[in-house]
Amino acid sequence: MPQSFFVVPWSKVSQRATFVRTAGKIVGTFSDLFSEADLSLLHKPETFACRAINLTSKKLDLSEIEKTTGAAIKQTSGARVSLPNPSLTVYLIFTDSQNYLGYTTKTTEPKRPKKVIKSSSELHWKLSRAMVNLSGLNENEILCDPFCGSGTILLEAESMGIRSIGIDFDEKMCNIAKKNLSSNGFNSKIINAGYQYIQEIKDRIDGIVTDLPYGNASKTSQSPKKLVQDFISILPKKKKIAIMYKKGTIDQIELNPAKKYDIYRHKSLTRVISVRNSVMST
Ligand SMILES: C[S@@+](CC[C@H](N)C(=O)[O-])C[C@H]1O[C@@H](n2cnc3c(N)ncnc32)[C@H](O)[C@@H]1O
Repeated sequence: MPQSFFVVPWSKVSQRATFVRTAGKIVGTFSDLFSEADLSLLHKPETFACRAINLTSKKLDLSEIEKTTGAAIKQTSGARVSLPNPSLTVYLIFTDSQNYLGYTTKTTEPKRPKKVIKSSSELHWKLSRAMVNLSGLNENEILCDPFCGSGTILLEAESMGIRSIGIDFDEKMCNIAKKNLSSNGFNSKIINAGYQYIQEIKDRIDGIVTDLPYGNASKTSQSPKKLVQDFISILPKKKKIAIMYKKGTIDQIELNPAKKYDIYRHKSLTRVISVRNSVMST
């Protein structure tokens, strides 16, 4: 098994993750659970539950596997079974090539920032959070959203311990973003200016995460196409970047090296997230 399995800070990953329901630790692999897997590798829990997951192409009797493994763990550890609220959940993950033994412990749900003022052009918090994660920005680094609107990306960043600066040319949107941030106790700076202001603050920021205007719900200073082109041309070098724009606004985005993800919304809107992070620029 690759060594990296053991060094992933999974509790941190689960705190930052958006679309992940469960994050845990793999402690070993097995082909025959009872002769090979060392169940004592699992912490001595007070209560536990067993979950078997079948990712193979075969049919498996998962409830029987959970029952027999549960009985073995109970015998080795003396722990009680608690299906609704276990302090440890043991996972048996079966795949066609390998079987994994792993566990998760009880983790607290990440505290969601509240949004006191909504906006018709706001980006869903899950996409905002996913973009912050794709950018690769770390705690205590500084993110800039130069089209911050109501501040969704800034809220998600601040909730992960990433400091942030928002820019928007619409004063009304700046005031909304300020209220949304201050009501969560976050003190991101909001600047009422055009996106070109990033050139003034480029030495103070570590990355740019933003959702560009598409020209329908939000105000724009230029046509969406021209705006994306001009914006890309002034992006500072050697910064972590995750930007979202409408597919088709530019054919060839010059963000090399970049990774792109298409997100289909409806037949006339597919969004693209284009990412350049520190891993790619080294
Ligand atoms: C798609 S919205 C951003 C939505 C934001 N992510 C949110 O969740 O509320 C685009 C924002 O860009 C702003 N904007 C448009 N042209 C701009 C420009 N030239 N410079 C700075 N901001 C601009 C608009 O006022 C709008 O708030």
